[in-house]
Amino acid sequence: MSAASDPSSHALPATPDFDAWPVDHAITGLSHDDRQLTITWQDGRRSRYHSIWLRENAADDSTVNPATRERILDLSRLGAWPTLGEARLETSGAVTLEFLPERRRLSFHPGWLRAHDYDNETATEAPLVATTRWRGAERSEPTTLDASGWMDVELDASSTDPLLEQALEAVIGEGLVRLRNLPVEPGSLDLIARRIGPPRPTNFGHLFDVRAKPDPDSNAYTSIALPPHVDLPTREYQPGLQLLHCLENDTVGGEAVMMDGFAVAEALRERHPEHFATLTRVRWCYANTARTSDYVWFDPMIKLDARGEFDEVRIADFLRGPLMAPFDDVEPAYAALMALQRLLREPEFALRFSYAPGDLVIFDNRRLLHARDAFDVSQGGRRWLQGCYLERDEARSRLRMLQRARRRERVASSVASGA
Ligand SMILES: [Fe+2]
Repeated sequence: MSAASDPSSHALPATPDFDAWPVDHAITGLSHDDRQLTITWQDGRRSRYHSIWLRENAADDSTVNPATRERILDLSRLGAWPTLGEARLETSGAVTLEFLPERRRLSFHPGWLRAHDYDNETATEAPLVATTRWRGAERSEPTTLDASGWMDVELDASSTDPLLEQALEAVIGEGLVRLRNLPVEPGSLDLIARRIGPPRPTNFGHLFDVRAKPDPDSNAYTSIALPPHVDLPTREYQPGLQLLHCLENDTVGGEAVMMDGFAVAEALRERHPEHFATLTRVRWCYANTARTSDYVWFDPMIKLDARGEFDEVRIADFLRGPLMAPFDDVEPAYAALMALQRLLREPEFALRFSYAPGDLVIFDNRRLLHARDAFDVSQGGRRWLQGCYLERDEARSRLRMLQRARRRERVASSVASGA
């Protein structure tokens, strides 16, 4: 019999996931009616849970497959709305509930219940990392971490890794991080990227080389200046993260410029709300019509999510095709575009820095705009960056795994100390 179905056990019951949930707040009181359970916690917080929500989130093997921890319960097959017949606080600190009409007794882990307290605003859909919008004028350099020796340390999916955790928090929260003193072997970016997740291949390759080359298929592969842009807005789903790894740089010029597209969009909303509204509505054409491929996509330049928060920007003047909007939208669309372009030229948004060999920048390609100054290769200098793309999902999954590893350590040390 598993701990989840054995209410007499002194061990805490299983949870419907693979995570570890430290019990930082004990349960001091329970009350219930047919459809609601109310828990009072040691710190005075009260949390209500619906009976149907509890039934769906039980951890027993009638609800989840124990091998995958994926749900197998179909609520609509229960025959009736699940209600609560009894609620009991176990000596272990777990909550055991009897569900009717099944007459099934199921136990819930207090740490898991507290972490999923949807009744209290503070816990509702809490972001993994809060978004911090920034302007380049407010900072002298990106959040920078020293990665000396980092690639020599063996890591697996269950390891803690403070450096990577800090880096991912910066990428998710600020949209940008710089790691320094990484190896400079060509191709080492693949191993570095896989510490987060699998790279996303594109028609530019699995890793791409950003350097001046003959017969370029992108302005990126020349030495000319690039205006602020995101990469691949020509795809239905723009790559979420871009990694740029500097292998060589002894050229004159070529300074990197980064800016927070969400801060620029917010400034547009404050100063020109009508132009902001237009850019969230009119679908522009993004096109990358090279000799051997033909990517085209239509979307607004600024996108908000279902909660009205910034989701992405699609800004890349050199990748826009002909605007094919309804006739009456064309002039307002261009007026809004030019208002945005003027904002992009304001120096307060731009953060400028130079690449040194061994530097890696990781940035949110659906949020940050990157640009570069022209560089001079006529004196024989070289500038070579290797790049690749990952999805935002990989950064979030990796960060959750790192947080899980830390929670496991806490649970293990509290068990060891008998706490
Ligand atoms: Fe780019």
